[in-house]
Amino acid sequence: AVRALSTNTDAAHPIKRVVVYGSGLMGSGIVQVAATYNYQVTMVDLNPAMLDKGTGYIRSSLKRVARKKFAEDEAQQKHFIEDILSRVQTSTDPLAAVEQADLVVEAIVENVATKRNLFSSLDGVAPPHTIFTSNTSSLPIGQLAEVTARPTKFAGLHFFNPVPQMKLVEVVKTNDTAPEVIETLVDFCKSLKKAPVQCKDTPGFIVNRLLVPYMTEAIRLVERGVASPEDVDTAMKLGAGYPMGPFELVDYIGLDTTKFILDGWYKSGEGLAGDKLVAPSEKLNKLVESGRLGRKSGEGFYKY
Ligand code: NAI
Repeated sequence: AVRALSTNTDAAHPIKRVVVYGSGLMGSGIVQVAATYNYQVTMVDLNPAMLDKGTGYIRSSLKRVARKKFAEDEAQQKHFIEDILSRVQTSTDPLAAVEQADLVVEAIVENVATKRNLFSSLDGVAPPHTIFTSNTSSLPIGQLAEVTARPTKFAGLHFFNPVPQMKLVEVVKTNDTAPEVIETLVDFCKSLKKAPVQCKDTPGFIVNRLLVPYMTEAIRLVERGVASPEDVDTAMKLGAGYPMGPFELVDYIGLDTTKFILDGWYKSGEGLAGDKLVAPSEKLNKLVESGRLGRKSGEGFYKY
């Protein structure tokens, strides 16, 4: 009953203004997609230099889209880009930005204290109807929701990199998230031409929960001398129909990121702590230690 009373979303408050915190890799992508599908978006970051970087990412991504859409027509390309950017505002004032928000999407640094600070300060200022979401990959949504007085209006909204290209969004519900809030978020994702899936608030949600042990198992297989990374990748691409092999994937995601998630789960992941499935891999640890982090460092399992 409390849940029903404290929730007034969709019909009463359709999502019009979206405020995205963090203008990095993920935040800028989310801003781009929301503005493309006609939402008014405010992008918030710590300082103007970060915001400029975010706007720069969006511009260059939109340029690629525009070139494909309007091959030779430069005027049309320009109009397409400027129209989308006209719906994007930027701000370094997190509290002022949230006053107009129907939906908050948090995509700041992956640090639980920093995220909790942000959400607790926003909660005091945001309108009662505002839905709060986090794009976190590895933190429990419940640990963020608990610092606010709106647990029914708090959920995970987990996009994938690169946001403009990747269709999937995991909509993550805690035990407190109201069903109508999930419905609103699912509709929001569909309005962005994304494919939403629903999932409980558990480590790794769906995709990473399956991918991280899979990639680690591939590394263990190579550690045991069963096969080479090249042959494992070929095997999974041609034998299982995967678009990338596990070593191409771990190089793309980053060996450090993969290790960070794995170690966190082994230490304290709900239902995973101490499980062999997520035990540390010596090979992975050594590679990370030596600075071979994957594509971003120029070398992981492969050279780039
Ligand atoms: P990033 O490092 O590219 O961007 C983070 C941005 O947040 C930076 O511009 C930083 O200045 C800003 N920031 C930090 N503290 C802030 C604050 N208090 N207020 C406003 N802005 C602040 O990080 P990235 O990769 O975009 O990740 C962001 C979130 O998205 C993390 O929670 C991560 O787990 C999640 N995520 C990342 C994916 C990836 O492939 N990189 C995939 C899916 C989710």
